[in-house]
Amino acid sequence: MYRIEKLVERLKSEGFDGILLIKDSNIRYMSGYTGADSYVIISETARAFITDSRYTEQAEAECTGFEVIKWRHPAAGLEETIQGVCSKHGIKKLAFERDKMTYDLFERLSNGMKSIELIPSSGLVEGIRYVKCQEEIENIRRAAEIADNAFDEVLKYIRVGVSEKDIERELQYLIKKKGADDIGFPIIVASGKRSSLPHAIPSDKRIESGDFITLDFGAMVNGYRSDMTRTIIVGEPTDKQKEIYDIVKAAQAAGEQAIKAGVQGSVPDDSARGYISQAGYGDNFGHGLGHGVGLDIHEEPFMSTRCEKILQIGNVITVEPGIYIPDWGGVRIEDTVLVKEDGIEILTKSPKDLIIL
Ligand code: GLY
Ligand code: MN
Ligand code: MN
Repeated sequence: MYRIEKLVERLKSEGFDGILLIKDSNIRYMSGYTGADSYVIISETARAFITDSRYTEQAEAECTGFEVIKWRHPAAGLEETIQGVCSKHGIKKLAFERDKMTYDLFERLSNGMKSIELIPSSGLVEGIRYVKCQEEIENIRRAAEIADNAFDEVLKYIRVGVSEKDIERELQYLIKKKGADDIGFPIIVASGKRSSLPHAIPSDKRIESGDFITLDFGAMVNGYRSDMTRTIIVGEPTDKQKEIYDIVKAAQAAGEQAIKAGVQGSVPDDSARGYISQAGYGDNFGHGLGHGVGLDIHEEPFMSTRCEKILQIGNVITVEPGIYIPDWGGVRIEDTVLVKEDGIEILTKSPKDLIIL
């Protein structure tokens, strides 16, 4: 499996004998396992999958090429199990994912495995996940298509009097009904003045005439996610609402136009942000332009003014500028896009002209 071979190469070049994986998305990427609460050790010779009795049968079915090792009663404890794998494969310097290891686990493992040096590492697997293969792209493409279909249908449900939570529930149902394994992440529904909250949690607020409604949602297919936002309006927009919407729409287009392989991640951000700033709303766009999407909803590259990552063919990223005006409302428009040699393919295809219900 080329993913494991690439990881082993990276381990060698950084001077590690092996790596302990604890992050679910990295474990899934490397082993195919779709469950939880498990550990993987990979080295030149080790393909060890460590789990407990709840998951051993599943792991044996899913993790081709891995030795599935059961820990917990009556088998050995976690630290003895990891120690056993390391001794068998001559692993003395064991890398771990620094952004996932808890202090509790670190203390337990370092106290219980005195002969092994635990070394923090970052991005070893994520660096391989950065560029998606065709199969991963097809999963995200399907997740985007399902989200588009669900959006199209939820529009028939949205009207004055339904609450944000009602819309969230309906959208969740539609995403699953149209074939997703799950929603891509917790759905955001923010209406009226609440649309100034970029990551609002759906509330009992009922839709009123004149409300902007920001819907931020996605689908999950085989673990891969899509991510899209549309802001719509119920009732006729005011001139100010039209002005803000048009600025965000043009900024989103500017961001997308600036994307192609070889470009630094800060460039599309500058492009969209520059447009919003020139229109006088720079202070109302506080977050980065977008982020990678895949097995995690937020992954590299994180596109902001300071992003140094170079975009590559096969990156899947979001483009999501917004303007948020406290006590008034806000607009965000977001696509998931595939980076190509000379530009992008937009995977989320829902219309971006203002939808008036
Ligand atoms: N739903 C979170 C985001 O768009 O990043
Ligand atoms: Mn989103
Ligand atoms: Mn996003």
